[in-house]
Amino acid sequence: MTLLVTGIGELVTNDPDAGAGLLGLVPDAAVLIDGDRVAWVGPAASAPAGDERLDAGGAAVIPGFVDSHAHLVFAGDRSAEFEARMTGEPYTGGGIRTTVAATRAATDAELRANARRLLREARRQGTTTMEIKSGYGLTVADELRCLRIARELTDETTFLGAHVIPADFQDRPDDYVELVSGSMLAAVTPYAKWVDVFCERGAFDGDQARAILTAGAKAGLGLRVHASQLAAGPGVRLAVELGAASADHCTHLTGADVDALAGGDTVATLLPGAEFSTRSPYPDARRLLDAGVTVALASDCNPGSSYTSSMSFALALAVREMRMTPAEALWAATAGGARALRRDDVGVLRPGARADLVVLDAPSYLHLAYRPGVTLTTTVLHNGVPS
Ligand code: NIG
Ligand code: FE
Repeated sequence: MTLLVTGIGELVTNDPDAGAGLLGLVPDAAVLIDGDRVAWVGPAASAPAGDERLDAGGAAVIPGFVDSHAHLVFAGDRSAEFEARMTGEPYTGGGIRTTVAATRAATDAELRANARRLLREARRQGTTTMEIKSGYGLTVADELRCLRIARELTDETTFLGAHVIPADFQDRPDDYVELVSGSMLAAVTPYAKWVDVFCERGAFDGDQARAILTAGAKAGLGLRVHASQLAAGPGVRLAVELGAASADHCTHLTGADVDALAGGDTVATLLPGAEFSTRSPYPDARRLLDAGVTVALASDCNPGSSYTSSMSFALALAVREMRMTPAEALWAATAGGARALRRDDVGVLRPGARADLVVLDAPSYLHLAYRPGVTLTTTVLHNGVPS
């Protein structure tokens, strides 16, 4: 069964061979979908016929957002912590333990229902690929059930047993590092594609992060690092040194961090929803882009530091507050996210790619940042199927 999406006023392909500029823009375009894949992309005037037609009515079409950083498996909410922050309390990451307690007390069914709700919420707003982390269980059994649930929802699952040192290991952090890199890792590996560490003062230091990431790599997992969110630290350079797919947050970078990112193949994933919700300075995206670093944007959806699933919100913040151009921001939220997940089949519309696209209620992708706070998705196709 083929579907011809036609009447596209402006098509973002992210394929520089197909169209103009960074976004590979094609005016008056069509996309032919065969099953769950893109079969053809080009000017509507020369489009092949399809069994069915979807007329975009002159609207813009973009690849589905690729959200490469989200913490969807949790219970409870921390709105009181948010309120306290908005009246002057700093964000320290200490609230993670509140969510850990609620998550441990929740049933599988409750965790699954909450994660599904958030995934649906993201999908409605145009996200068609979502990475999902564990990290609010922090026991072998709880991390395992969180990752099992994550795996029901996405292939991009990340083991974040190294989120914080749980209270009962406070006096013996090295025992927790050993647990995470030993029996916890062994238990969750069948359900995880990636391993991540919150490398930050108050969480895991450089040596602890190295031990966990190295063990994860040995177990066959790809690497990601929460790095330099609250202060400069060793996380970014460690990520690059170990060949991590992504260093996430990158809010407080040294010159050496930027040089390392520019010289390696680790994507810098920026999460402006976290700076917004913790009232913190935004990362210096221009410095990274000007140094030639590949930048991704992601939601960081989690109940503490960034309780939003909206990629267009991240994109609007990146444009308004981080001086990314609208084109750079859209690229970062689609193709950049795909790079951060080392995927070449999503975040792009070209023959062979997954048929994930969004018909916008707008004539141009510029409206994503120009109309902040508005959900502009008319139709979201995921694997070629409207959702
Ligand atoms: O990416 N920084 C660590 N992890 C999350 C926050 C988790 C939380 O506050 O619950 C983040 O911002
Ligand atoms: Fe995070």
